[in-house]
Amino acid sequence: MMTTSDHTADKSQRFFSDNRSTEAVHGAERRLKPERSLVEPAFYTSTYTFDNMDDVCRYQEAHIHGHVKDRYEYGRYGNPTVAASEARLAVLEKAEGAIQVASGMAAITHTFLHFLSSGSHIVMTDDCYRRTRQFCEERLSRFDIACTVVPFGDYAALEAAIRPETRLLFSETPTNPYLRVLDVERFAEIGRRRRVLTAIDATFATPVNLRPLEWGIDLVIHSATKYLGGHNDLLAGFIAGRNELIAPLRDTIGFLGGISDPQTAYLLLRAMKTLSLRVEKHNRNGQQVAEFLAGHSAVEQVWYPGLPSHPGHDIAARQMSNGFGGVVSINVKGDRAATFRFIDALQLIYLSPSLGGVESLVLHPAAMVYPDYTPDQRLEAGIPDNLVRLALGIEDAEDLIVDLDQALGTV
Ligand SMILES: Cc1ncc(COP(=O)(O)O)c(C=O)c1O
Repeated sequence: MMTTSDHTADKSQRFFSDNRSTEAVHGAERRLKPERSLVEPAFYTSTYTFDNMDDVCRYQEAHIHGHVKDRYEYGRYGNPTVAASEARLAVLEKAEGAIQVASGMAAITHTFLHFLSSGSHIVMTDDCYRRTRQFCEERLSRFDIACTVVPFGDYAALEAAIRPETRLLFSETPTNPYLRVLDVERFAEIGRRRRVLTAIDATFATPVNLRPLEWGIDLVIHSATKYLGGHNDLLAGFIAGRNELIAPLRDTIGFLGGISDPQTAYLLLRAMKTLSLRVEKHNRNGQQVAEFLAGHSAVEQVWYPGLPSHPGHDIAARQMSNGFGGVVSINVKGDRAATFRFIDALQLIYLSPSLGGVESLVLHPAAMVYPDYTPDQRLEAGIPDNLVRLALGIEDAEDLIVDLDQALGTV
């Protein structure tokens, strides 16, 4: 029988070094799986059986005294396939523990609802995923939780915003859509010195390119819908960190109920085996396409941290170990109509939200993320009509470049 305690980061670290490909394939796996299956099976069950009332009482006793559970009870409190997927992610992030939930937003909202309580305060940086910012600015006040949004990269403003009741500092890196790069070491240092927890949404980075916990961050969050899932076929989220933070959060999620199912965990386990391979290709495509676009006459500006011209390049080069990811944003040299023409002319790259999958996607932030803003509000938010986000997949860079070049010809 596999239990949560069979999958621990410690166990795999006995066997594997800092080799991310090996970790992605084997990290925290149990060697002997049911029926000698090579692959971890999906356990489709919503509940688990007990032999008799003695068995029930023994289990409840261990539960009450906070011992590590050696069996499952009910699907909302755990599933072996989900536990295997969580343990794999924990190895990749060098975390003591991880929790898989229903979506990236579930990871974010459940984390906020657990660590923040009435009368407390969160500081977050702007240039974050819009829904995250909206949740903080528009929903948390219902629970008497205050939120301050500070400009990304302004560490003095970040520190000045901290109050005695501040419980969480939250940011992303690289950010959406400008790929700004947070100095995670500096962010972590501010949190530690001011005794406030730090959490980073590292969806765009993936543990292949950045492991925030190694830089002193307390919690790392992922929309696993993106690179970790990698195939545009699932929604999931992860939160990873020290057990002292993860275990009580898992308890809260047992109430909130935003758990992930075994099918998603199975797909995630499969996808994570190729994470390193895929991210290497996303990194190469990102770099090659960004360099091509930087030299194109129909492009006004390219936003990619792998380019020395990007404001976050120096920090990214220092803290991102294998590359800068597959998302490249550009300002087209033209107005809204010209930008729409460019997007509509793309033949290989699909017009769709999301990122991190094997298929390349294009998104128009003004029309697709900020449709409710007036043109003036969009400009104030730094989202002009000529801004385009490219989420490059793992196709051949030459083909992506041919597609982009012909489409830019319409600008
Ligand atoms: C950086 C970032 N965080 C979180 C999310 C939310 O993830 P999900 O769609 O899996 O809920 C997204 C989604 O686009 C994202 O880009």
